[in-house]
Amino acid sequence: MLLFKVLPFLLLAAGGLLVAESGSETAAGLLPIPPIIGGEQIRLRIQAGELELPMGSSRTLGFNGDYLGPTIRLRRGEVADIRLENSLAEDTTVHWHGLHVPAEFDGGPHQVIRAGSDWNPRFTISQPAATLWYHPHLMGKTAEHVYRGLAGLFIIDDEYSDSLNIPKEYGVDDIPLILQDRRFERDGSFRYAPFPPDIMHGYIGNAVLVNGAYEPLLKLDRGTYRFRLLNGSNSSIMRISFSSGQEFTVIASDGGFLPESVRTDRIILSPGERYEILADFDGTEQTSLVTEIYGGKTYETLKIDVTEKEGRFYDHPGSFRYRAVVPDKDSVRRSFRMETRGMGRFTINGRRMDMNTVNFSLMKNSREVWTIENVGMGMMNVPHSFHVHDVQFSVLSVNGAPPHPLYAGPKDTVLLFAGDRVEIALEFQEYTGLYMYHCHLLEHEDAGMMGQFLVE
Ligand code: C2O
Ligand code: CU
Ligand code: CU
Repeated sequence: MLLFKVLPFLLLAAGGLLVAESGSETAAGLLPIPPIIGGEQIRLRIQAGELELPMGSSRTLGFNGDYLGPTIRLRRGEVADIRLENSLAEDTTVHWHGLHVPAEFDGGPHQVIRAGSDWNPRFTISQPAATLWYHPHLMGKTAEHVYRGLAGLFIIDDEYSDSLNIPKEYGVDDIPLILQDRRFERDGSFRYAPFPPDIMHGYIGNAVLVNGAYEPLLKLDRGTYRFRLLNGSNSSIMRISFSSGQEFTVIASDGGFLPESVRTDRIILSPGERYEILADFDGTEQTSLVTEIYGGKTYETLKIDVTEKEGRFYDHPGSFRYRAVVPDKDSVRRSFRMETRGMGRFTINGRRMDMNTVNFSLMKNSREVWTIENVGMGMMNVPHSFHVHDVQFSVLSVNGAPPHPLYAGPKDTVLLFAGDRVEIALEFQEYTGLYMYHCHLLEHEDAGMMGQFLVE
């Protein structure tokens, strides 16, 4: 499942490709690093902006800026007190993806921040160190709002992550990378204007941005670097590698550190998924981070120049502390069939999201086992990524076999190609209320591939 299946995958994107040939040094600005925001009160202003790129400028949205948002960084045990101001002329919401938060502050489709008004979620961070993120979740508008630029990282630290001997200096040797494909039009701008086939296959781009920049340059001293990768695309599944072909060590997935680190030369991230990796650069190579889009093209997303200067090398840890969710005898079992029933009819168990329907209820402090299936059939063969709010779950099996080691740690989103079947164990603690589960291909989510459950 973690290798691309070769499929006749119709890519209907790419109207007018005008992206400069990669390799051109002309546009290579330095990689922007989103600023850190933290402390007792965090202020985020949702605002309209303009993003200048080598191909042209686009009208965008951002938090406290033109595009994307600052990296929220807090410690386990701290209170997140966030004041969001929606300065737009339209409603939106802001959801804390991967965070365990009270339902009323989850930021899903029910917690609308009206045009011109504020929202003040407050919750205690009570989960392990991880790389999480935040983005809008307005019913039917999530894809558009994220696409226009509303997304940011949310990093949690704890005593355990402090104790590890790994790179930790944000923006220096611990580098956030928000990967997003965008579809540039002939005039050099990108905008969100999907046609029906874009709903089916996702709004696939013709260029990949990293932290809102196009093919920027990252200059590094020789040494070990940690990259926190987020696939912040609407619907593109991305395979990441280095152009040098070098191996790296994956140390964390969506919800924190893996039980065992994984040595590999490529990883796949579906929309919403994160990984943290450690990579060594010894100064002899000039390399780049390469993004291959499923059913699409390959892009040199980030150029990496390694100087002769001696930085710091770290041993790559082999294993980490991780407490898996283990089902018990009375764990309730549920199944979720993700199915496409004709153009634009995306369903889970035959139903589309209805704000007024609670799809099922479950008990607080219980563990459950969910089986998720991507029901593929002929023309309707499309991948899905299944995401659950409120929890980090454990993957029990993929197509009947134990999960790949990359799926053996804390997860909130899993990728399913057509025909795949994934079994997960979840534990619902502490909070009651309404939470969402959905496909994280945002075009599918907006087309109805979502449901809600009530924790009682
Ligand atoms: Cu990242 Cu319900 O979303
Ligand atoms: Cu979420
Ligand atoms: Cu989907």
